[in-house]
Amino acid sequence: MPLDKSLYVSNVWKEGIFDNKVVFCTGGAGSICSAQVRAMVYLGANACIIGRNVDKTEAAAKDIATARQGAKVLGLGAVDVRKPEALAAAAKRCAQELGSIDFVIAGAAGNFLASIDNLSSNALKSVMDIDVLGSYNTVKATLPYLIESAKKYKTDGITPPPNGTGGRIIFVSATLHYAGTPLQSHVSIAKAGVDAMAVSVAIEQGPKGITSNVIAPGPIGGTEGMDRLSRKESRDKSAKMIPSQRMGSVKEIADATIYLFSDAGNYVNGETIVVDGGQWHTGGID
Ligand code: HXC
Repeated sequence: MPLDKSLYVSNVWKEGIFDNKVVFCTGGAGSICSAQVRAMVYLGANACIIGRNVDKTEAAAKDIATARQGAKVLGLGAVDVRKPEALAAAAKRCAQELGSIDFVIAGAAGNFLASIDNLSSNALKSVMDIDVLGSYNTVKATLPYLIESAKKYKTDGITPPPNGTGGRIIFVSATLHYAGTPLQSHVSIAKAGVDAMAVSVAIEQGPKGITSNVIAPGPIGGTEGMDRLSRKESRDKSAKMIPSQRMGSVKEIADATIYLFSDAGNYVNGETIVVDGGQWHTGGID
C-alpha cells in the first residue's frame, strides 16, 4: 500500500518534473532521506539508495518504489560511505542500471549523545568519518556522472537553461553547530565540515554546471534522529519554544529538496537552506 503522498510531498509541485532523472542518495533508508527520495520518485525520478544495513536498505527501496507506478528504485545495502571503493562501485552500478546520476543527496550520518569529556577520540573519528569523509567519498564517486548530466543544461551564459536540471548535490547537514548544542560536539564539528565542503564544491565545480547546496533540518518529528537524541517528554515543551511552535515534518525537508533540484533552484549555489521553523535564531536546541 503506497504511503499517502500528503505525508512526504506538497501538492504544489508538478508531476513528471523529474521524469527520466536519477537520484543517488546515501543514508537513503533513514527517515529524512527516504522522504526526500520518495518525493523525487513520485515526481518522476528513478533512484538508488545506499545504506549499511542490507535488509533495511532493500526494504526501503521497495517501499519508496510504490510512490509511482513503474518507478525503479535500487537499494544497495552493505555499502559503508567510509569506504571510497564501495561508493565508487555503487555509483557505477547506479549509472549502469538506471542510466545516469543527475542528483545526489549526501545524507548518511552518525549520531549519539555524548559530552566531550565522555567522547573518545575514536568516537569523534567515527562520526567525522561517516559525515565528512563519507560526504567527500560520495562527491568523489558521483561527480563524473553529475558533470555529464550538467552538460545538458549548460548554456552560453545568455540563453536561459532549458527546462529540466541535472548535476546537483544536496548535503544534509544540521543546525547544531550554529549556536552550539550540548552533547553534540562531535556532530557539530562534522557538520561544520560538511557545510564547508558544500561551498567548496559549489565554487570549484559551478563552472561545470554543478550546484552544491546544504539543507539543514531542525527538529523533525517522527525521525530516527529525534528518537535517538531527545527525550520524548521534553519534545512538546521544546516544540513550543520554536518560533513556528511545532516540530517540522519530513515532507518539509522533501519540499526544500525538490525546490533545490528543480528549475526553481537553478541559480542557488553554495547556500544553506535551514528548515527549522526559525529555531536556531532562538539559541539552539534544548
Ligand atoms: C559515547 C559512543 C557512543 C555513545 C558509540 N560510541 N556510541 N561514545 N556515547 N552513545 C563510540 C564507541 O564507543 C566507539 O569508541 C566509537 O564511537 C565507534 O563506535 P562503533 O559502534 O564501533 O562505530 P560504528 O559502528 O561505526 O557506529 C557509528 C556510530 C553509531 C555513529 C557510532 O552511533 C551509528 O552507526 N549510528 C547509526 C546511524 C545514526 O546515528 N543515525 C542517526 C543520524 S541522525 P571507542 O573509543 O569505544 O572505540 C542525525 C541527526 C542530527 O544525524 C540532527 C539532530 C537534530
